[in-house]
Order: sequence, then C-alpha cells, then structure tokens
Amino acid sequence: MLAALLLTLVTSALAAPSTKRAECDVSTRSISLPSGQTTLVKPTTSTPTFIGVGVGVQNYTCGTTGTYTNVGALAELFDISCTPEVLFDAVTDVIFDAWKDAPASITTAELIDTLAIFDPPFILGQHFFITNPITGSGLSPKWDFTSASLKGHSDAFAVGAKVGDLPAPTDNVTNIDWLQLNVVQGDLASEIFRIQTRGGQPPTSCTPGSPEIFIRYAAQYWLYGGSF
Ligand SMILES: *[C@@H]1O[C@H](CO)[C@@H](O)[C@H](O)[C@H]1NC(C)=O
Ligand SMILES: *[C@@H]1O[C@H](CO)[C@@H](O)[C@H](O)[C@H]1NC(C)=O
Repeated sequence: MLAALLLTLVTSALAAPSTKRAECDVSTRSISLPSGQTTLVKPTTSTPTFIGVGVGVQNYTCGTTGTYTNVGALAELFDISCTPEVLFDAVTDVIFDAWKDAPASITTAELIDTLAIFDPPFILGQHFFITNPITGSGLSPKWDFTSASLKGHSDAFAVGAKVGDLPAPTDNVTNIDWLQLNVVQGDLASEIFRIQTRGGQPPTSCTPGSPEIFIRYAAQYWLYGGSF
C-alpha cells in the first residue's frame, strides 16, 4: 500500500518536469493593456504560459552627449502564477518597494526570501542580455529557465526582438517602458510582454565618461505560447 503510494509519488515527480510550467496554470489569465493605444497588442492565437515578476537592474552608460543609453539588464524572475490576478499589481508594488530600499549587498533571491507573500518562492529563471544571435552584433534580451524551473530542458529559453514599445502609462520618468517582443530563438515562448514596470529609468542627464550605472526595477513579464 505504502510502496504503491510512494511509487505513484515518484512516478508523478519524474513526470513533472515535462508538464509543470509553473506552480499554477495561467492559461486563463488575461493581460491588461492600456486602452487607447495600438502599440501593444494582446495575443489572440496563444495563451499565457508563464507570469513572473522580474526583479533586478537596468544598466546604463553615459554617452558623449550627456544622456544615458540602456546597455542591458539582469533580473531574477519569480513565479506569481498562484497569486489571484487582482493582486498582481499590488504584489509587483510590494516587491519593488522592498527592492528599491534594500541594502546594496542583498541579492534579488535573498530579497524575495524575506517576503512572506512567497512562501516558498518559486524561481522561474533569469532575464539578461546576450549578443544578438541573428545579426551577431548588438544586444538581445533573453529569458532563460534552463537553470531554474525548467532545469534539464536545454531549449527552455527565449531570445526576444522588440515589436512594441510604450512609455509607462504612469510616471514614465521613473518607470521604464512597457514592451512587446516576438521570440526569435528558443522554445520557452513565442511572445513576451513587459508590463507594470516599476523603476528602472536613469537620471535625465549625466557627465560623459562617468561609469556605468545600475538602476533597480521590477516588472511583470507575461510569456505566451512556447512548448512548455
Ligand atoms: C548589468 O549589470 C549587472 C549587475 O551589475 C551585471 O551582472 C550584468 O552583467 C550587466 N549586464 C549587461 C548586459 O551589461
Ligand atoms: C510621459 O508622461 C508625461 C506626463 O503624463 C507626458 O506628458 C509625456 O508625453 C510622457 N512621455 C512620453 C514619452 O510619452
């Protein structure tokens, strides 16, 4: 009896990596995009597969004209699939408020560990930049779940190309743009949205030659389609 139960548990655990997308199914969740704009368009042929809050930094260097240029980002993506949808934006606020005031030495993973709303936290993966794999020059954003929630699935990543860029609907001086990206490489998703951004914008001017800066931010990432 016990042996049979254990066998069932082990079998389902072994089967889990190929079926488990996140902690909860998000296919019926519906992204909210600002009305009165056509820059970001809700997908009609695919459903959400992952919804996470990214917590990290946007990197900037100071150009010769005294303004900052974005040169990539680094973020940890935390699963919010089990959170009631009405609380998504509040959860994003809570995470960013904690992150923006956290000591410089704290990592994003440590930060999330301190937040009772994630008990325990479920890390989907990481978001960072790589050399554009199509053109071989410039940077492309990548979402990589191969070392976290989809360990063992070497194609559980997505490299994106921006197709829509909308200034944040509230406080666009502080909050980075909302984005829509098509996936050009990887099987993790076919489309990705960055919405509900918090922070991440650089100061309006800088002194040419000053070092790279890292501005803390949080945002919701909605992934659509893909094969997981
Ligand atoms: C952005 O900054 C982070 C933190 O300093 C760093 O680890 C990462 O490599 C940087 N990414 C890029 C593309 O510059
Ligand atoms: C940013 O927000 C301000 C105030 O709402 C608005 O006037 C401005 O046009 C916005 N900037 C962009 C680039 O949309």
